[in-house]
Amino acid sequence: MEMKKVTVLGAGIMGAGIAQCAAQAGFEVTLRDMEDRFVENGLTTIKSNLDRAVSKAKMTADEADVVMDRITGTTDLNMAARDADLVIEAIIEIMDVKKQVFRELDTVCKKEALFASNTSGLSITEMASVTGRPDQFIGMHFFNPVPVMRLVELIRGFVTSDDTLNMAKDFVEKINKTAIEVKEAPGFAVNRILCPMINEAIFVLAEGIAAPEDIDNAMTLGANHPIGPLALADMVGLDTMLLVLEGFHKELGEDKYRPAPLLRKMVRAGYLGRKSGKGFYDYTK
Ligand code: CAA
Ligand code: NAD
Repeated sequence: MEMKKVTVLGAGIMGAGIAQCAAQAGFEVTLRDMEDRFVENGLTTIKSNLDRAVSKAKMTADEADVVMDRITGTTDLNMAARDADLVIEAIIEIMDVKKQVFRELDTVCKKEALFASNTSGLSITEMASVTGRPDQFIGMHFFNPVPVMRLVELIRGFVTSDDTLNMAKDFVEKINKTAIEVKEAPGFAVNRILCPMINEAIFVLAEGIAAPEDIDNAMTLGANHPIGPLALADMVGLDTMLLVLEGFHKELGEDKYRPAPLLRKMVRAGYLGRKSGKGFYDYTK
């Protein structure tokens, strides 16, 4: 099957970035979210990324228009998915919500369509199990910010076929990213390493060992990370960080994965990082 039409579910931080990259690679993209304002936010983010690329002379204004024209925003799942060759899910990191969406998709999509989840670490096998096509289901884990980050982790579920893996590899190559294959396990490879590090930074903050700026400077200046762990948590979204860590704790069953209570408290207070304007840092000023 030649892949032409890609549907991205969820127009948030990740969905918008994935849609942008697919459109830049020439795919016809539909971006679906539950409410018009979420779809509009996603399209606005893509437009401002493309405008920035134009202002830096990385593409012409005409090229940016062509990319934008390849993306259709909608709230209608049926319209979004019925012709799709590949559906990439990038909605909230809650298993039951993802399963509900895949159940619906299975009834809407053509039988050859591939399903991919951008989950940060939930079971691909469990999501695939609610569809009638578990062999055509794969984990396709992108990194934030998607237009900049070069890696995609590909994760096979228990019965993902070789054909599905090969088509996913081909898609990743077409959007100019590098795929690595990772076995199904909570957090796959990158997040299993990265998220406990971020969690530990939050414990260090909560224990009063250092101020947020100093913790971040510690890791940028002392370990050459491009960005500190608290600034990175703000970029990922503290709600998503908490859901990922809760998933680790539940599945791996070890206290070392316990989410820092400060993280939980901040999420309860609505401090979600950049997306809400406040997290470990204030983005409203
Ligand atoms: N969207 C699109 N492009 C962006 C961007 C965004 N949100 N943020 C930055 N960029 C682009 C800039 O436009 C700039 O592009 P050019 O090189 O073409 O000019 C480039 O990235 C560098 O940006 P800046 O100079 O403004 O800032 P920087 O040098 O500090 O880089 C960064 C920003 C790329 C985000 C860098 O800080 C970085 O690499 N941070 C670490 C990112 C990371 O670890 N991501 C993984 C998160 S975990 C995850 O994704 C998995 C999960 O499941 C939670
Ligand atoms: P986000 O909160 O920015 O966006 C999620 C979007 O999904 C929202 O716009 C929401 O309205 C929408 N949504 C929720 N339920 C939906 C449904 N039933 N149907 C359609 N849309 C729905 O979240 P995000 O950061 O983009 O994360 C999305 C997924 O990507 C999660 O599984 C997350 O773990 C994963 N992920 C996140 C990052 C990151 O750094 N934020 C990195 C890699 C993977």
